[in-house]
Parts: sequence; C-alpha cells; structure tokens
Amino acid sequence: MRYIFIASIFIFSLISCHKTPPQSRGSVAGVMDTVISRLYANVPEAEFNKIDDAFMRQFVTDEERQVLATRYQYFTADVPVTVSIMRDKGQAVVPFWLEPAGFAKTTLEVKNEEYTYEVWQKNFPAGQVALGINGFDKHRPVYFVSVAPQNKGEHLALTGIYPGYPVDTLRVGAFTYHDWSGLVITEVPEALQGQALFTTVRGRAREAHVVDAFRKTQFPSHAEPDQILLTWSASPQTSIDVQWRTAPSVAQGSVKYWVEGTTDTLVTKASLNQIQDRMLFNDRYVNRFTAQLANLRPGTHYGYCVGAGLGWSTARSFRTEGEKTDDFTFVWFGDTHCFPDSGKLVSLADKNNKDAAFYSIAGDIVSTGLNRDDWDHLFGYSHDVFSRKPLMPVPGNHDRQDGLGAQLYYDLFSLPKNAPRGVDQESSYAFEYGNALFIMIDATSEVDAHTPWIEEQLANTKATWKFVMFHFPPYNFEEPYLDIQKAWVPLFDKYHVDMVLGGHIHYYMRSNPMFAGKVVDNFGKGTVYAISISIPSKHDAMTPESYAVKQYDRGYFYQRMEIHDKSLTYTAVDSEGAVKDTFTIRK
Ligand SMILES: [Fe+2]
Repeated sequence: MRYIFIASIFIFSLISCHKTPPQSRGSVAGVMDTVISRLYANVPEAEFNKIDDAFMRQFVTDEERQVLATRYQYFTADVPVTVSIMRDKGQAVVPFWLEPAGFAKTTLEVKNEEYTYEVWQKNFPAGQVALGINGFDKHRPVYFVSVAPQNKGEHLALTGIYPGYPVDTLRVGAFTYHDWSGLVITEVPEALQGQALFTTVRGRAREAHVVDAFRKTQFPSHAEPDQILLTWSASPQTSIDVQWRTAPSVAQGSVKYWVEGTTDTLVTKASLNQIQDRMLFNDRYVNRFTAQLANLRPGTHYGYCVGAGLGWSTARSFRTEGEKTDDFTFVWFGDTHCFPDSGKLVSLADKNNKDAAFYSIAGDIVSTGLNRDDWDHLFGYSHDVFSRKPLMPVPGNHDRQDGLGAQLYYDLFSLPKNAPRGVDQESSYAFEYGNALFIMIDATSEVDAHTPWIEEQLANTKATWKFVMFHFPPYNFEEPYLDIQKAWVPLFDKYHVDMVLGGHIHYYMRSNPMFAGKVVDNFGKGTVYAISISIPSKHDAMTPESYAVKQYDRGYFYQRMEIHDKSLTYTAVDSEGAVKDTFTIRK
C-alpha cells in the first residue's frame, strides 16, 4: 500500500515538473517551495508525517535533485583542493548527494564537546565546489566544511562563497556554529589542522526540512481581520501603529479611526506583507497589514476599525499619551512562551489593570520563534488584549532560532527604529512614555554593540524614571551574565537606572537596590533587578541569592508598575491574582 502511494506521487512529480517556474529552480529555497506545494497538492494530510528520506529522494525531480545537491553551499577555489565534510555521526541518514558526488568516508574524526563528526573527502580541480543539503531531516548539528590546497604549501584564495558566513581556521578551540559559539572543536586530526574552515549556523538544518516537519495552526487566518495589535514606532502622544492579519485572499487594508464622541472619521491605508510558513499545512500564507496613524491629538481617546475588503472589524479604542504625563501605569511580563496559561495571565492582567497604558514582554514571547503557529498562540490565547493597549516587547533566545534571526518578530511588531549601529532595527530600541525612559535591548545580539548606545540614551534623557528591559538577567543564581555585568551595569550605576527587568531563567527574583554588584541601603543609590516568568514553572534546585529580597521557585506572575510623578509602586501578582511582591520607590 505504501509502495503504491509513493509510486503514484513519483509519477505525478514527473508529469508536473515542467510546471516549475524557471526562476525558482536555482535555489534550495525556491525548489523546496515548489516541492512542498506539490506535496500539499498530492499527499493526503494523514500521510504528511509518514514522509521520510526515501520518499523525498523519489518525490523530487531530477532537476530539483540537482539543485538540492549543489546549491546549499558553494565557493570557488583558485587551485586544486581537497574538500572535507564533517558530518555528525548521530545523523541517521547520510545526505543523499554525498556519495554520488564522489565524496568518500575517511577514518578521520573531528570532535567538539557534544558531537563526533566523520570526515568525508573529495579532491576538486581549481574552480567551483558545489555542495548539497544537510538532509530532509532537521538535524541541527549540520555538516561543516574545511578546504585545503592539494599541493601542500600552495596559496589558496576562496571567492564566490555562499552563504557568506566567515571563513576561519580549523583548529582546536574554533567554533563552527555562530548560534552556539561556545561549542568549540576539541579534537582535529593533524591532517586537517590549519585548513580553511567554513563556519555556519544550525538553522541551515531547516532549509530542506520535510521529515516530521508538518504543523497545523489552531488559529488559521480568515478573510476577516484578526490578531489586531497596537504598538508604537513613533511618539505615543501623536501616533500609534495598528497591525492585523487576514487570509492571503485579502489584498488591501485600511484603518478607519475617529476621536471618540465625534462622527468625523479618518482613513489610513495599511502596507501589506505576505508571510509564509511553508510547513503550516492548514494556513501556509497569511497577509499582515501595518498602518501608522499619525498626527493624533495627545491625551485623546480614539475609536478604530481595521479592514476594507470584506468590511470593517468591530470597533476598538486606544488612548494617546497626554502632553505632560507624570502619572501612568504599565504592566510587564517575563517569558510568556505563549501557552494557554500565559494567555490567561495576560487576560487577568488586562482585567485588573484597566489603567495600564501599555504592556511589555521581556523576551521568549514564544517558544519557537520561526514557527508562525507559535505567534498565532500569542494572539489566540491572549484574545484581544493587545488590540486595546500597545505591546512593546523585546526578543529572547526563543524568539529567534539557530542563527536564523527573529524574522517573525520583525514581521509582526512595528517598533521604533533607533537600534544601535550593527544591531537589527526593532530588536533593540528606546522610547519615552510620560516621565519615563525605556531602553529595550535584544540581549541575544552583541553585548558590546549596545554599550555606547545605552550610554547615549541615558545621557540624553530628562526622564525621571529609567527602565531597562532585556531577556538575560545579569544577576541570577543559575548563569550570571558576567559580560553584561561588566559592560552595561556600570552605565546603569552611573546614570542611576531605576529598574532592570528580565526573564529567561524561569523563576521570580527581585533584588535589593544594587550598585557595582553590591547591595546598597536605599533606592536612591542603586538599581533594582527583577526576573519574572509568565508560564507555570517549578525550579527544584533554588540557590539563595544574597542580593534578593524575594525569590519564588514556582508560580507565574505579571508586574504592575504604577508611577505617580516621583513615586513608583511595583507589584508582582501571581496567576491567582494574589500580590506576591510589592515595594515603592520615592525620589
Ligand atoms: Fe524562556
């Protein structure tokens, strides 16, 4: 039965291959888009997760196979070279192209602390070397490559390198995966030492991932707008950014808005970005719309609808920041990871904090940042909360994957574009609301790239209150971030940041005020560090922290931050609505 199924697919693939658009033939991404479309058209849903490597070898056309065997990685060598491929021995299936391409397995092995790699080699004349995919599985320790001239001592120049990850030297201590630079090579045979080493990222395992790859979203898109979201990318007094989702059939969108209590409406057209998660078999493409409403009146309640096409959504409302705001409240969450429980917590916070001006999440908003169904959970489980109050998040390690970046985070959130040089726009940003400065940092990117920018933000503000939010807490009992303590904490001290808000370690901790890493006796002299978590958690092996006022090894929380001019009242509330921590800073 299975044989018949595979055979029928194979026949179809031969018939249909002439329909492949020529422009998609040259890249692994283009071929995989075509292959997946053909799978969806021909394989019953119930069979998706039975697809294996053997099936894929037959399913792809000769032409597609050629692209998958040669367009994953390539470079040009100016002299004859020996190419070595280090393939993790733990990968069950050898990439289909490796032996047919003439690579032979040697007895050599390369090791790091986690994996042992067998070494496959082939000699190439001067010219282009073209290599194939890591496999149809998602084997994250992807193969990596080294190259050396066949004539020892000859100078080797490498050009036309794809993809453009840096070339290092193969040696003990070198890393291979940019997204795990701490995983360094521990053993290299003498014959390979000193060769040119092509670094890579583990995310490359996803490029042709089909085996056990299919997913279904619980919250598919429809023609009617959903996932309506407010953020700010410009002044909260005079603007707001409105974002939403529809099915791909809806080609246009607008926001209709009005000052509440009046009848005059304004309309702003939205820009459209179609996004694809090709393994989401029940909702592969969605349209995301973004519109910035500008020239708004400060301190004003507005009503708005989104839509066009099939009509307008139900009306919602927002309020712009007042011209002189010394009193306001915001609510922040630690890791949400987007489970039903964190959605309930968001709804609870919304119900109990009607006065909140906005929300923040300190990273790990979702668990698998490149899976769109995870983001569907964020909106599905938290209902319409973020359509009434803006959400100003920062990314955590889970919001980006395996060196591939946080594309869905960028696609979803329209945020201030004032990142430090060398850091992705919208991943780190700063904004002011009322009498407070918010420095929002993507701590998963370069620490040092942020340091001068943080100082610039702190030195140039007149804000009464200064908050810094980032995912990795510098002080925690599990893995203190010494690089952050060294680079950023002296600035928090120098400019008197009031609170540093983070997550990541999945417990709750709030410190005494600290200066230079030591507890000080009042809030005026130091910074309070807080770690929170917004999904059920249980830390079995807690270690007391000398600087901590409160530590909770379990439970999950939201934090209310209530500012009245020179007073800040902080309250951490658990999922049952009980106050678990509170204090007030008065300036
Ligand atoms: Fe987390």
